[in-house]
Formats: sequence, structure tokens, C-alpha cells
Amino acid sequence: MCCARREAEKMLDTTNINLPRHVGVIMDGNGRWAKKRGVPRWEGHREGARVFRRIGEYAADIGVKYLTFYAFSTENWSRPPEEVAAIMQLFREYLLEGDERIKENEEKGMRLRFIGDRSGLPADIVNLIEKAERESADKSRVYVNIALNYGGRDEIVGSVKKIAQKVACGEMKPDDITQDDISGGLYTAGQPDPDLIIRPSGEYRISNFLLWQSAYSEFWYSDVLWPDFTTDDFDRAVLAYSGRNRRFGNIG
Ligand code: FPP
Repeated sequence: MCCARREAEKMLDTTNINLPRHVGVIMDGNGRWAKKRGVPRWEGHREGARVFRRIGEYAADIGVKYLTFYAFSTENWSRPPEEVAAIMQLFREYLLEGDERIKENEEKGMRLRFIGDRSGLPADIVNLIEKAERESADKSRVYVNIALNYGGRDEIVGSVKKIAQKVACGEMKPDDITQDDISGGLYTAGQPDPDLIIRPSGEYRISNFLLWQSAYSEFWYSDVLWPDFTTDDFDRAVLAYSGRNRRFGNIG
């Protein structure tokens, strides 16, 4: 985005705000957005990808440090093959903008991490993911996770398997297993749990997203379909979060 446009745009004044450190976003409603317009579902996803970029940039600009976008779940493979192919193509295009990405990363300090099971993804996409992660590895202004072929239950199973392996070879005793051991085996290892999870499109579900990590997350829902989601909507979510009283099981 050009600097003149960024300067001109309205940004949330975060001075007296309790800003979430980590925001998770379930990008939902692309299909309904397309249906409302009588266009193919992939057009909704294309628009969703545009909004993903926009919200990612904006969130970083107002100071959110960690972002996790739910882009494709382990269950999404059951969609019609042409829709799956169209979504994969969007990932490919995003990743293929290598030069632009390097520039964007320089400017934005964006470190990319793709979370999910790569073994199920097309080989060219896996190569591009590895390249994008490599090229952004020294950035630290904002950490952006993209959940691709991701399932929260699978992620927990993966972590438990790593621990079981250590127990099996005598490196660890069952009684010594801690919550940190489970967290440390997740794709998000080393990152703070999400403070806020945003779900647009009028659905009120977690849909297998960051199941372990969301134990104490605050949730914010909206009827807006993801392709219509704006930076004002993001501000509303952040302001609502800022006013919440998080007790983490304690008394208020
Ligand atoms: C859910 O909406 C959305 C998806 C399964 C795909 C999300 C993908 C994107 C927004 C593209 C992301 C691109 C990049 C580059 C990260 P839905 O299709 O279930 O909507 P519906 O509930 O209205 O049918």
C-alpha cells in the first residue's frame, strides 16, 4: 500500500487501549458473499484474500504483534474440487508474489509462519511456504500465522505424539508432563495464546481453530461477511476486547 494512502486513512488511537497481543481471525462468509452477488464462490474467496491482506496490514499498523488467520481447515478438503483448487490457487498467488513479499516484509517487518499439516498440500505450495518463511525469518515487527490444512485436534494429537515418543525412549516420565510441554509441541510454540478471536459472518463456533490456545481467549462475533469486513470492524473488535474483564478463572 502506498504511504500517502496509509497516512490519509483513519487509524484507531490505541493510547488508552488494552490492545490484544495476539488476534486470531476465522475468515468466514466468503461463499455467502458470493451467493448474494450471484457470482461463483471462488470470487468470494478472492475477495476474502484481499481483505486478509488489508486487515493483516492494518492490525500490524495499530500495533498488534501476533495474528493468526484461519485460511483452510483439515475439513475443507471435502468441498467441491474446483473450489479447493481455487483456494489453493489464491495461496499460490499470494506466495508467488515473492519480490513484492520481500519488499512488504522489509517495510512491514512481517514474519510469516504457516501452521497446519503440510504433508497434505501440493508440493509447489510447500516449497513456496518454506521460501516465504525463510525469507521472513529475521523479521519481528509482526508475526503472521496462516493456518493452512489446519485442525486444532490434529495439532494437539501431534504434540501428544512428540511427548509420547520422549516417554517411550525414557527421556521423560509421564508424571513430568506439563501444559507447557503440550504448548511447546504445537505449531504456535513460543507464541502467546490468542487474546482475542474474531469470527464474522454470524456463526458462533470455534470450528477446530486453536483449540488448546484459545482456553482463555475473548471472542468477538459479527454478522458481517468476511469479504465485507473493514478496518472499522477490526477496531470494533479491539475496542470490545479492551473493555473486557479477563479473569482467567480468578474472581473479578
Ligand atoms: C470460509 O468461508 C472460508 C474459507 C474456507 C476459505 C478462506 C480463504 C481465504 C479467505 C483466502 C485466504 C487467502 C490467503 C492468501 C491467505 P466459506 O466459504 O465457508 O463461506 P460460507 O460459510 O459463506 O459458505
